[in-house]
Amino acid sequence: MSAPHRIRPWPYPEYLAHRGGGTLAPENTLAAFREGTRYGYRAAECDVKLSADGVSFLLHDDTVDRTSNGTGEAKALTMAQIARLDAGRWRGAAFAGEPMPTLASVAAHCLAQGMALNIEIKPCPGRETETGAAVAREAAALWQHAAMAPLLSSFSVEALRAARDEAPGLPRAMLFERVPDDWRAVLEELGAVAVHCDHRELDEARVREIKSAGYAVMCYTVNRREDAERLLAWGVDAICTDRIDQLGP
Ligand code: G3P
Ligand code: CA
Repeated sequence: MSAPHRIRPWPYPEYLAHRGGGTLAPENTLAAFREGTRYGYRAAECDVKLSADGVSFLLHDDTVDRTSNGTGEAKALTMAQIARLDAGRWRGAAFAGEPMPTLASVAAHCLAQGMALNIEIKPCPGRETETGAAVAREAAALWQHAAMAPLLSSFSVEALRAARDEAPGLPRAMLFERVPDDWRAVLEELGAVAVHCDHRELDEARVREIKSAGYAVMCYTVNRREDAERLLAWGVDAICTDRIDQLGP
C-alpha cells in the first residue's frame, strides 16, 4: 500500500522533541528520549544513518567526533564499534556511558511510551540511496504493528526516493532550509505529505500556499515561545524544538 499524498487532519503531535530530547540530554541518545518522555512529549525527531555493516543508528554528524569519545567517519565503523563509544560524557558526568542507540532500541522506547517518531534519514555522503532504503526497510518492520507509522524525512531527495520505493506505506516529508518555488513538484515526485523547513525562512503566504494544496508544514528548530505561537497561528502543523522544558507538548 502506498502512503497517501495528503494527510488530513495531521495525525502527529504539534510539538516534537528535537534529536530525541532537545538540549536537556546528549542528543540522539535514549537518555534524550527519556527526557522527552519525562516532559510529557508525545513525539520526537532523531537523525539516523547507517553503520559500515548496515545497521540503522542515531547520529547527527558524519563523524563521531563531536558527540562521542571516538573519532572518525561513522560510515567506516561497524555497529559493534559504535556501540562501544560513549555518546553521553561530553554532556556531563551524569550521562557517562550513554551509547549511540540503534533505531531498533529507539523504536522499542517509542512503542512502549506511545511516542510518535520523525526519523530524519541523514546519510553519510555517497550513501544516500543505500541509507534511504535500509532505514525505510527497518522502520517498516519495527513499526509493522504500530498504531502510528513513523514519519520519514530527509534533506536528500535520493534518500527519500529510495525510502519511497522500499517502504511506500510510510509517510514522508521533504526537508528544506528554505522552501523552493517548485516545492510541489518535489513533493509529488516523492509522494511526500509534508515540507519540513527552517522556520526563519518561512512566511505566512508560503504556509497558506502549501496548506491550501493539502500538504502539511513542519518547522525546525523553534526555541522561542513567540515564534512557536506565531507559526501555529499561521497554520503550521508541527514544531520541532530543543526547549522541551519551555515549549509544548
Ligand atoms: O529534522 C529537522 C532538523 O533536525 C534538521 O536540522 O541539523 O538539526 O538535523 P538538523
Ligand atoms: Ca535532524
